[in-house]
Amino acid sequence: MRILSERDTLPYQCLGCLGTIQCNKKQLKSTVTATAIPRPNALTGATKFPMPRKLFVTTALPYANGPFHIGHIMEYIQADIWVRFQRMQGHAVHFVCANDAHGAPIMLNAEKQGIPPEQLVTQVSALHNADWPRFHISFDHFHSTHSPENTELVQSTYKALKAAKMIASREIEQFFDPVKGMFLPDRYIKGQCPKCGTADQYGDSCENCGAVYAPTDLKNPFSALSGAKPVLKKSEHFFFKLSDKRCVQFLQKWTSEAKLQSEVVNKIAEWLGDDGKNLNDWDISRDKPYFGIEIPDAPGKYFYVWLDAPIGYLASLKAYFDSGKAKANGEKRTFDEFLADDNVEQYHFIGKDIIYFHTLFWPAMLHFAGRKVPNNVFVHGFIQISGEKMSKSRGVGFGPTKYIDVGLNPEWLRYYIAAKLNDKVEDLDFNPDDFLTRVNSDLIGKYVNIASRAAGFISKKFDGKLGKPQLPKEIATEFAGAAEEVAGYFDGREFGKAIRKIMALADLANQYVDANKPWDLAKQEGKEAELLTVCSTAVAMFRDLTVYLAPVLPELAVKAGEMFNFDALDWKSTAKALKEGHEIKPYKHLMGRVDPKQIDALMEPPKEVAEAAKRSEAKADAKPANGEAAATEFALQPVEPPKPIVVAPIAETISIDDFGRLDLRIAKILDAELVVEADKLLKLTLDLGIEQRTVFAGIRSAYNPKDLVGRLTVMVANLAPRKMRFGESQGMVLAAGDGTGVYLLAPDAGAVPGMRIK
Ligand code: MSP
Ligand code: ZN
Repeated sequence: MRILSERDTLPYQCLGCLGTIQCNKKQLKSTVTATAIPRPNALTGATKFPMPRKLFVTTALPYANGPFHIGHIMEYIQADIWVRFQRMQGHAVHFVCANDAHGAPIMLNAEKQGIPPEQLVTQVSALHNADWPRFHISFDHFHSTHSPENTELVQSTYKALKAAKMIASREIEQFFDPVKGMFLPDRYIKGQCPKCGTADQYGDSCENCGAVYAPTDLKNPFSALSGAKPVLKKSEHFFFKLSDKRCVQFLQKWTSEAKLQSEVVNKIAEWLGDDGKNLNDWDISRDKPYFGIEIPDAPGKYFYVWLDAPIGYLASLKAYFDSGKAKANGEKRTFDEFLADDNVEQYHFIGKDIIYFHTLFWPAMLHFAGRKVPNNVFVHGFIQISGEKMSKSRGVGFGPTKYIDVGLNPEWLRYYIAAKLNDKVEDLDFNPDDFLTRVNSDLIGKYVNIASRAAGFISKKFDGKLGKPQLPKEIATEFAGAAEEVAGYFDGREFGKAIRKIMALADLANQYVDANKPWDLAKQEGKEAELLTVCSTAVAMFRDLTVYLAPVLPELAVKAGEMFNFDALDWKSTAKALKEGHEIKPYKHLMGRVDPKQIDALMEPPKEVAEAAKRSEAKADAKPANGEAAATEFALQPVEPPKPIVVAPIAETISIDDFGRLDLRIAKILDAELVVEADKLLKLTLDLGIEQRTVFAGIRSAYNPKDLVGRLTVMVANLAPRKMRFGESQGMVLAAGDGTGVYLLAPDAGAVPGMRIK
């Protein structure tokens, strides 16, 4: 916020009326308080909207099924950095989130805990609401999909879609659990894979051979809830006509206009197929019992959670408007007026697992309900821990509460994540050693160090008053172009590039201090003027770096700004912002270093996991699926369906000849390695005595590759080879499993590779 001056030639926004004003001599005389509106940034292409931009931004809505894991926080940090950057440019941002409260997993989890689902949602909401502010996430509002706003918006959207003839209804046949009295979501049906015969596979895909199928294709299916044999039962379902020509045309147009990431465009092309041939209508209804929003005029029918969840974005925005918070944030219009404005830009930050819902159903639903469609969907990859996928059962990963509890500074995580993010759909690795180095050497060693090296002399020797900063020419040139370059990176979500640029500037500043040695100057008579210039120049450079880092380190920026008496959120000013005579307060420690002990404490597996490991009880991981059973990996109580108490029924009788057709052999495991693209599989190299084979086996959750090398096991040697995404599987190893673990078969001593099993 500043008073216009003669140098001001950019358009400015009046903070009183929010109108745009062009500075000229006449206005200079008035004392209008204004904030700078940058020139449309050449690097971002976001030029078609009038300045300042009006942005509606969301992150994905976390399931209200358990506390946050670090993946959630990573997404919020990414979005928050972008949002804070946009706000610093003078744009109006309305940034909201909410809990995703509905669906079968939450209903079943609550039931297991003996509480109503509403209570589970309230309990989890309290955990969520305590966590996000700790990481300086600046949501303007955090709502819930289990709310009157959402019910109203969902039902009105549905009515609009019906009026647009985009809803169909037809009877379908599905598996029904006669004991539980409910239709079974795919993930709650298990059985034998129809392709490879592996037992205990989920109703939608096989973890051994990767086949995808309908639950009705499973052999010997059973309910994972009760163990009962499911029966086929008919019921009327409602569908959103995704395969309708109008819808396909709309999606093709939206996809080509939205400037989506190339990986996302490719995915959509795959899903659409030629002219939308691959699209099926989307089943949007579920029968009772279901925790969700009722479908109007259809007793006992509920909206599928994935219909009401994204509408939750709008519900949260509405609650934010209705609460008066939007008004306080400078937006005087109503929720409906705001969303009717074509110049309002709508962006969703999401992870790679939910692209389908956000780029097909969501834009189509909004379009045919006559609403604003997203301008873009920003997709990120997953955070992994030391190269491993997060998993509660294996103790990989940590929750945000633990991060804070071991005394780690949330801004370190923001910095680390920013340094590793780009605009691609790429996974990001949290590596504890790398974290320690980047924070201690770069953030503290390079950036914070500049202030601590220079500011002390200003207070001690010059009464806290700066001299005239004088950047050497080469450094001045680098700093002069930085504001625009760094802005381009932030706007384009190339945070890693922004951090690299800022650290390169910090290197220059440190080289300048090293070359001019203020500590030596301070000891020499008659060098006071030089000392003052060197220290003032360093403080001025530090000021710029602080401003560029402010979207990432908001708390530190404010602290530094207060100490050195500048506006840390004023992007526009260059290093010249600090004038001769500018007063600063004495330097106080700005930020500490990471202690390796904190990292050790963070990475220590939770007690339960350590104990389980001791008992070497390898548990199968709960796989978060799209939709129905997508439980978070760090759920309060595991929402993995309760294990059936019954043993799976015995398969159909076969003859001895049928059995004789199987060629089972002893195989020696020569090598075992992880498969990057498939987190359930291990790639085994097997010695069959006469030849070697490669087999992909779904045993990763239970075995460490190195522990398998040298072991003997049993394989089906005459199984037709099967092409998988990552290579050919030439057979199958045998393992026992009932859903609680996987146990590889091993022969008695004396057996050798190649021996036939009869
Ligand atoms: N409830 C749905 C989203 C509905 S949006 C209308 C959901 N919830 S979730 O809790 O499973 O995930 C929330 C977000 O966290 C998603 O964007 C998801 O991709 C993201 N992440 C889940 N695991 C993650 C990592 N390991 N790393 C980064 N993001 C991760 O999906
Ligand atoms: Zn299979």
